[in-house]
Amino acid sequence: MRIVFGGSCGNSSKIGESIAKKLGLSFLKTEVKHFRDTEMLVRLPVERLDSRGLLGRELADYDVIYVQSTAPAQSKHLIELFLTVESIKHRGANSLTVVVPYLAHARQDKEFNPGEVISKNVIGKMLRSLGVDYLFTIDVHFHREVGEYVYEGIRAYNATATGALAEYIRDKLKIASPKILIPDYGHKPITEWIIPILGNDIMFGKKDRRGETEVSIVFSENEDLSGRPAVIFDDMISSGTTCIAAAKYLKRMKATKVILAVTHTLYINGARANLLAAGIDKIVATDSIPKRDSVVHVGPIIADSIEQAHFLPLLTVK
Ligand code: R5P
Repeated sequence: MRIVFGGSCGNSSKIGESIAKKLGLSFLKTEVKHFRDTEMLVRLPVERLDSRGLLGRELADYDVIYVQSTAPAQSKHLIELFLTVESIKHRGANSLTVVVPYLAHARQDKEFNPGEVISKNVIGKMLRSLGVDYLFTIDVHFHREVGEYVYEGIRAYNATATGALAEYIRDKLKIASPKILIPDYGHKPITEWIIPILGNDIMFGKKDRRGETEVSIVFSENEDLSGRPAVIFDDMISSGTTCIAAAKYLKRMKATKVILAVTHTLYINGARANLLAAGIDKIVATDSIPKRDSVVHVGPIIADSIEQAHFLPLLTVK
C-alpha cells in the first residue's frame, strides 16, 4: 500500500494532496503542535490508517511519500521534517520517499570562504542517517541537471518547473519569440526545457557574487531589443539582487516588456517590490513557496517525476 503525508510548511499539504490525487493514493496531513518554548511535537494520524494496528508498527504495510518544504522559517521546518521522518521510519514503513519542494541551505554547496561549513551536505547526511530511502526535489540549487542523482547516499530525483513556467508565458501571457536571459551560466541545463516552447534566442550572464546582496553580472551581448519582450529565468529569488541586475540590463537594451520566470520565491526584504521597481513587468513563479505570483503548481510536476523515476520499484505498483 502507498500513502502520502503532508507537513505544515507552506503548501506542503496542498502539494501532497495533488501528488496523491494524480497517483490515486490516500492523503493524510501530519499534526504539528508548538509548545510555548517554541519546541514542537509531530504526530502522525495513525488511527486513520487501515493497518493491522500493531502498536509502533502502524506503517509496516506502507510505502510512504512525505511532502515537507523547508522555506522560512527554515530551521523550524527542517526540524519538523527530521522529526516526522523519524516517526515514519520508527513505525516500520516499507520505504520512505521524501519530497522537499524547496530545500533549505541548498545554496551553501561549497566552502566559499575558508572554514565555512558545506550546509547542503549536512542536510543530506541528516536525511540519510534518519533512514530516508528516496528524495524528490525541484530545481534544487546544487544540482542543475534534471533527473536522477545521488545526494549523500540517498537516491534522488530533481524535477524542473522550467517547462511549465515557459508554457505559462507562451500560452497565458501570449509572449512569442522573446529574448531569454539566464543570469547564471550554471543554469544552462534548463535551456533544454525552454527552447521547444520559447525558442533559442538565449543569452547568459557571468555572475560574481561577493556577498549576500553584492552581485556583479557581466552580460556579453549588447543587443538592441527595441520592440521585443524579454524573459529572465532563475531558480530562486532571495534578495532579488541577481534579477534586479538582469532586469536593469534588459531595460537598458530597450526590451519592451520584462517577464521573470522563477521556481522558488523567498522574497526577502522587499525583494518583490524592488524587482518591479527595477523594471520587471510580471513575475511567473511556482507554489513551492506560495506567494502572490505562484501560478504554476508543482504537485503534478513532482507526481510525474515519481512515476518516471526508475529507482522506485516498490512505488510503480499500486
Ligand atoms: C544563485 O546562483 C541563484 O541561482 C539565484 O540567482 C540567487 O540565489 C538569487 O539570490 P538573490 O535574489 O539574493 O540574488
